[in-house]
Amino acid sequence: MDLKNKKILLVIGGGISAYKSLDLIRLLQRKSCSIKVILTKTGKKFVTSLSISSLSKNRVFEDTFGEKNNGKMDHISLSRWADVIVALPSTANFMSKLSRGSADDLATTVILASDKETFLVPAMNVRMWEHKATQRNLNKLYSYGYKFIGPIDGEMACGEYGKGKMSSPRQIVSYLEKYFKQKDYLKKKNIKATVTTGPTREYIDPVRYISNESSGKQGYEIALELSRLGIKTTLISGPTNINYSKEIKVKKVISGKQMLSEVKKNLPTDIAVCTAAVSDFTPLLKNKQKLKKKLNLSEIKLEKNPDILEFLGKNNRFKPKLLVGFSAETENLLKNSIEKMREKYCDIIIANDVSIKEIGFNSEFNEVIVIDRNGETQKIKKNSKKFVASIIAKKIVNSFLDIKKRLN
Ligand code: C5P
Repeated sequence: MDLKNKKILLVIGGGISAYKSLDLIRLLQRKSCSIKVILTKTGKKFVTSLSISSLSKNRVFEDTFGEKNNGKMDHISLSRWADVIVALPSTANFMSKLSRGSADDLATTVILASDKETFLVPAMNVRMWEHKATQRNLNKLYSYGYKFIGPIDGEMACGEYGKGKMSSPRQIVSYLEKYFKQKDYLKKKNIKATVTTGPTREYIDPVRYISNESSGKQGYEIALELSRLGIKTTLISGPTNINYSKEIKVKKVISGKQMLSEVKKNLPTDIAVCTAAVSDFTPLLKNKQKLKKKLNLSEIKLEKNPDILEFLGKNNRFKPKLLVGFSAETENLLKNSIEKMREKYCDIIIANDVSIKEIGFNSEFNEVIVIDRNGETQKIKKNSKKFVASIIAKKIVNSFLDIKKRLN
């Protein structure tokens, strides 16, 4: 039932495991999916388009500029049509092409032109899989947001044994079933998340403000990922340079007080994730005119900004079922973060060592430790903020579903 009417675009590549794609098509057919298939030039050496079209009940797409296209651009229409894209077998060469952003055939062009969830199903010899080049490509692909099904350990077509064997069609179907089941459940239950992100600006006069270096990227990626998992997500963002995707609702704010006020407007919310680097202090008064140099600095009076995370944690009426905070520290990372989790009544705290230059504030990368109420920790090693967000979002959804189960 979980796959019924789902639109799956299969990309069949050139590896010996391509023959298993026929089985996969049959299994997906039985689950009442709608299937369209792109067959690459090398894929054609292993399976024929006749067997695929007979099974999928659809014509097979092969060429970027094929004669049968009737003026339609397949690379756009196919990617818009699909709910998800599944590429199997994803060979070492295919992964390498995607990691470079190649678009030299229909398969790579469609994937590049798509904003749909794309699952790569690798299959290759164990040495090829373990090769530094493939592992580097794998990391890059993770950082672009691709998801992976397998590979698994096992005996390969070449007779060697190890990691690199393609997940079986049954395993792929079960992975997709789980993915859609959770997504449809969260959508049906109309689960809401509120994510704060970015810095805030606290204006002293019309042209000067107190702020910080936060880029807002980590919170934005978490919001995007939560929304992809089926959660109705609102991002409340301080000033950033992000080109926000239309997939999520964004409320732009400037100051910490405005951020709190937007958060309040968005209550009740099932999940709240506070990633914003809210300025701790704000001027008591914003001067209408630009301040003069000769001003005595002590005349600028500051007050404490409201703490949004603490407000949510202490809110008896509208406390989110799951509250997630961030903890940027330069020393005693774990100890200080656990203390913060308790002080601010969070269920999960994401500890971020901001003393390391290449990660954290204003960087493309992050490395964090996810800590939950039971004291369980999960380190997410240095990777793109997109990848880190995908692991954090998964943890958030699983914890939320656990809490929901306990409450029911
Ligand atoms: O106490 P500290 O500022 O280190 O706490 C960080 C956590 O608290 C982050 O989750 C941040 O988004 C949140 N916070 C907040 N409002 C503030 C200050 C911090 O929501 N005024």
